[in-house]
Amino acid sequence: MFKGSPRGAFFFPIFVIMKNILITGGAGFIGSHTAVELIEAGYGVIVADNLSNADTTCLEGVEKITGQKSRFIKLTVVKKKIYAKYSLRTA
Ligand SMILES: NC(=O)c1ccc[n+]([C@@H]2O[C@H](COP(=O)([O-])OP(=O)(O)OC[C@H]3O[C@@H](n4cnc5c(N)ncnc54)[C@H](O)[C@@H]3O)[C@@H](O)[C@H]2O)c1
Repeated sequence: MFKGSPRGAFFFPIFVIMKNILITGGAGFIGSHTAVELIEAGYGVIVADNLSNADTTCLEGVEKITGQKSRFIKLTVVKKKIYAKYSLRTA
């Protein structure tokens, strides 16, 4: 058994682990292009977007280009308190 193996009787199973990446604002312009690139590079994509400046049209485009449906979470990523604390604003 395992005669050809340099280490004798060891058998190394190979697991392919799919990495998932959360893209905030992923239904928008930059996010959806990023999703295409990541999917084509072999990553799983989860899009979190509150749809304040987008709808799901871009996600349909991502699916058409890549052949893969992105997981979508309707979510406001940063709470208003944080915006105030760091003087941030939405578009
Ligand atoms: N060339 C083109 O066809 C084209 C088209 C659109 C935009 N642009 C350019 O792209 C740039 C903007 O792109 P972008 O991707 O940064 O903006 P975007 O508005 O397209 O994307 C931002 C996304 O973040 C979401 N979002 C905003 N606040 C959120 C929050 N708190 N929680 C969760 N989601 C939130 C919005 O709903 C939106 O989908 C601009 O420079 C614009 O001129 C170019």
